Amino acid sequence: LPKQLEELRQRASAPAGQALALPFAAYRSAEIYQLERQQVFRRDWIAICAAADLAKPGDYVALRIAGEPVAVVRGADHKLRALSNVCRHRGSILLEEGRGNTQRIVCPYHAWTYDDDGRLMGVPYAGSTEIDRESHGLARFALEIWAGVVFVNLDRQAESLATVLQGVDRYVRNYQLDRYAVPATDWRQPELWHANWKLIFENAVESYHLFKVHPKTFEPYVPTRGFFYLDGAAPWTVTGGRITSKSKAPPGEPATMGEFERNNYILVTIPPSFIGMVTRGSWSWLTVLPRDEVSSVVSQGSLVPVRPGRVSQRASDAFNAAFMKEDRAICERAQRGMYAELTAGGNLVEMERIVGDFHQYLAWRLFGTEPEARHRSPEVSIFG
Ligand code: FES
Ligand SMILES: [Fe+2]
Repeated sequence: LPKQLEELRQRASAPAGQALALPFAAYRSAEIYQLERQQVFRRDWIAICAAADLAKPGDYVALRIAGEPVAVVRGADHKLRALSNVCRHRGSILLEEGRGNTQRIVCPYHAWTYDDDGRLMGVPYAGSTEIDRESHGLARFALEIWAGVVFVNLDRQAESLATVLQGVDRYVRNYQLDRYAVPATDWRQPELWHANWKLIFENAVESYHLFKVHPKTFEPYVPTRGFFYLDGAAPWTVTGGRITSKSKAPPGEPATMGEFERNNYILVTIPPSFIGMVTRGSWSWLTVLPRDEVSSVVSQGSLVPVRPGRVSQRASDAFNAAFMKEDRAICERAQRGMYAELTAGGNLVEMERIVGDFHQYLAWRLFGTEPEARHRSPEVSIFG
């Protein structure tokens, strides 16, 4: 292996409990990014949006997953499908990136037209040319919904997400995530951050930085010192923390919501791109996708049990905007450190074990290293 890859392999495969910062070059290397595109983003489950965000037939979201253009479309039959968003004629992008609603997919170049399950319906001015419609449909990718969130996998042979996440359910069961069915806000435009996707992911999963980076947003409400690790390994990690402010029970809160659920949040981390946080009032997540080796697309989504009033919606929008700004600034600042060649990162602290799990995931995907077994902390006994 070239030197950069070998250094990454060594550091990423350290035991999660003794993790080290990854080599800085991994956050700016085009070669490593190419490997990640193949081994991570073409093989694993990527969160897209809430299923409830695409409620009506014809609703779609179009985006790129590490370069691969994909559209998730709600068909006239109410089914969600993940389709290639590239025209089978000469390759134009079909649907504009972002959200919209359309009954048919019409290519903006020569107007080849596809229906909502990707079948080629029409070819204008075909003349005497015969085009086999069957073999000119849009490619279809795997799609699953977990906890109300749509995930797509470019590898149709991949293991089912429900199977991958089996062990997670017990930690979120009492919240009854299917109650969180209302999108909390209108769709927010994803942000382009100037940092490598791994740096943003690591920042989003660890609670170590809350006291320093978020002294007025997160820290007063979910303090760093209230953080705890529950269960995890390479494929997913469940952590949590204490909530210091008391919130009122939302109407219709079920009896399964116990002492624990009322006073703590649970964080579900599913690499490479999903970090979700559940409290009694909301199920919110952040997703990160690489644009290239040094910039990333960061999106937020949120489902709530009951549609919020305008005042509380405005307050939560302001809160989101404030902590996103703090995270963006620190990620872009750390990214500038990644160009240093005359120094290296060091030990991660105990609280950053979750970052170690992510490194184990990377070593597993990129180098086929056997990941460590699940690590459960003693606290998990309360979940039975
Ligand atoms: S590229 Fe789509 S119709 Fe020509
Ligand atoms: Fe943060």
